[in-house]
Amino acid sequence: MATTSRSFPRSPAAASQQFLPTARAESVLDLIGNTPLLEIAKVTHGLLRPSVRIFAKLEGFNPGGSVKDRAARKMLQVGLESGALKPGKTIIDSTSGNTGIALAMLGAVLGYPVELVMAANASRERKKIVRAFGAKVTYSDPLEGSDGAILLCREIVAKDPQRYFKPDQYSNEANPLAHFETTGPEVWRQTNGAVTHLVAGLGTGGTAMGVGRYLKSRNPKIRVIGVEPDDPMHGLEGLKHMGSSIVPPIYHEEELDEKISVSTEDAYEMVYALGQIEGILVGQSSGAALIGALAVARELKEGCVVAIFPDLGEKYLSTNLWIGWQSWNRSRLTRLLAKCRNESANATT
Ligand SMILES: Cc1ncc(COP(=O)(O)O)c(C=O)c1O
Repeated sequence: MATTSRSFPRSPAAASQQFLPTARAESVLDLIGNTPLLEIAKVTHGLLRPSVRIFAKLEGFNPGGSVKDRAARKMLQVGLESGALKPGKTIIDSTSGNTGIALAMLGAVLGYPVELVMAANASRERKKIVRAFGAKVTYSDPLEGSDGAILLCREIVAKDPQRYFKPDQYSNEANPLAHFETTGPEVWRQTNGAVTHLVAGLGTGGTAMGVGRYLKSRNPKIRVIGVEPDDPMHGLEGLKHMGSSIVPPIYHEEELDEKISVSTEDAYEMVYALGQIEGILVGQSSGAALIGALAVARELKEGCVVAIFPDLGEKYLSTNLWIGWQSWNRSRLTRLLAKCRNESANATT
């Protein structure tokens, strides 16, 4: 495999040339995508072989703040093209948060009303953001998680089906298609085709499916790894424990080369480490993705592992994530990485 070290600019001047901002955009629709790729080298220092590198695709840089802007834009575009979404319709969906934010933002700019069904325990920030974009919100039972929101949304639509356009991110092929058309090519371009492994958290599965399909179409040897919570009662907003959930129709487990389970505690600790050591504040599912990327990377002799970081951390400052954040310090990283080392040693003996 070609090493990526010469392919990536090191100096700030070179980096700023690579990440020139769009000169002018006509609407927020044009600002979606082209997110940066950041090397994660400090947190992983000493843990990987020299020719193994980990990069994070920072999807929090999208205008709605998450990877979901891509899927939402594509689902609405396909809806408009097919005529399923037309003036007079209201956009409705069940969402764990980020898709709701994306739909609310896009509904505002396209001039469509948006109604969202979300679990009542979604973070306070998320609830306020969607309302700031003018969306109406109905809350489902927090104990039923995202599945409860899906079922309640179905009930609402069944009462007045003509009124609504329901993108249904769990079964809409435009969701993975968005990633096949945009995220995948970006990862390929940003690594100059050197990517060897993709690591993506599993919510609807749209990101893992779409990016994975694109990368494998360019190089069938690229491995696609899904990350999921290790427990049905997890605290990793945006991710699904597939074994105990309604499996999304767009998710095809057989397309993954591997699946890694991550504990809520480890993912949170990685979020704290990323903030204090890499200077990047991300959400829980990004911490989980990096744990997964490390598990993959520590076994490699050489490789370029790209982890999708779905969003940034500000939205979660009122959640349980913040509780451990306050008392965390760098010495705790040793425990987390030692755990990775021990598991690695066990795996190879
Ligand atoms: C924070 C967060 N992480 C990860 C995901 C998973 O992405 P996907 O639905 O493409 O599997 C989501 C999806 O909503 C999310 O909101």
